[in-house]
Amino acid sequence: MDYKALTKEFNTPFYLYDFDKIRSNFKALKEAFRARKSQIFYAVKANSNLSLLSMLASLDSGFDCVSIGEVKRALKAGAKPYKVIFSGVAKNETELKEALKLGILYINLESFEEMKSLEKIAKKLHIKARISVRLNPNVDAKTHPYISTGLKENKFGVRLDEAKKIYLYAAKSEFLEPVGVHFHIGSQITDLKPIFEAATLTAKLVRELNAAKIELKFFDVGGGLGVVYQNESEPDLNAYAQGILASLSGLDLTICLEPGRFLVAKCGELVTSVLYEKMNGDKRFVIVDAAMNDLMRPSLYKAYHAIEMPYNSGEMSLCDVVGGICESSDFFAQNRALPKAKNGDILIIKDAGAYGFSMSSNYNTRPRACELALEKGQIRQIRKRESFRQLIENEVGFLK
Ligand SMILES: Cc1ncc(COP(=O)(O)O)c(C=O)c1O
Repeated sequence: MDYKALTKEFNTPFYLYDFDKIRSNFKALKEAFRARKSQIFYAVKANSNLSLLSMLASLDSGFDCVSIGEVKRALKAGAKPYKVIFSGVAKNETELKEALKLGILYINLESFEEMKSLEKIAKKLHIKARISVRLNPNVDAKTHPYISTGLKENKFGVRLDEAKKIYLYAAKSEFLEPVGVHFHIGSQITDLKPIFEAATLTAKLVRELNAAKIELKFFDVGGGLGVVYQNESEPDLNAYAQGILASLSGLDLTICLEPGRFLVAKCGELVTSVLYEKMNGDKRFVIVDAAMNDLMRPSLYKAYHAIEMPYNSGEMSLCDVVGGICESSDFFAQNRALPKAKNGDILIIKDAGAYGFSMSSNYNTRPRACELALEKGQIRQIRKRESFRQLIENEVGFLK
């Protein structure tokens, strides 16, 4: 890749995504589940660029959304409503109403209260709401605590006994139709056993519901498949599929997968330029033009991202790679061995395709980066850099 030419044309920082690689990840995952009916619902939150969603829609992907904004994004990108599901612990009345009107496949419920609220809305609209219930199976996903979601101390989902209550109520309701069951125990999972444990518990619930004459169609196993950022062991796709299929023996359900990170993390990089190099005593800092507002993961989770400087081959020494934001948590790497840097050097932060741009912000009144896609050897811009005007356009009521 000619990063110098890209930098000249688009300036830095920018995100660069490899759409062909995303496509091949999608196909590999689909292929791993070929033995059963399955549907991938890409987790939009991982990277919600419309061009990316539209490319996935062309592969027949569905979309897992956690706000009505994401639902509308997916539809705008060409998704069919029956390929969209709506999850999340805090869907409000307006969102539920809109989702029902849009006719999406199902809504993943996260509490009895939410079910009652949805039933009321469905009754008003004279629509029968298709629902699924998100279980909290209380299994430890063995991942970073901030992205672990399947333990009883986490806010997500409901306990098995509560889920049963929801299904029994919903099955009798004129305005609710239970069609699925859901779990998502966390993200960046590299040990698959907790996923299989959750699948087994969930399948047990399905069998109990069947015995009570409640027949579901969709078995939604969430996302969570981890990737290698540093030295993690890479989960095996076939083992993943086989483990889930094994838990479902005797049940005829469509398996719904909600991968985010697995599809896009390794297919994106954040390209930034060195502004300065600075020594504070014997501590070396490489200061770049991207910052934590562009990529939060290192600040938020102390996440590791590999860093490359493709045009530098100088002597290596330890340094911190930092941005210009007024927070000491604004770093991309700490004590990392990198070559000596100077103004204008290009630095690439790898594996930033998931939870990169989508978590970015305008903190410190910084415009969000532009985004580029590489597809069949061609580069195209899929999002422009924000302008100062766009940053302030919604601010009203001040004295000029
Ligand atoms: C309900 C749900 N599904 C899917 C995902 C995607 O997870 P991942 O990117 O780890 O595959 C998330 C992410 O947190 C989620 O909350």
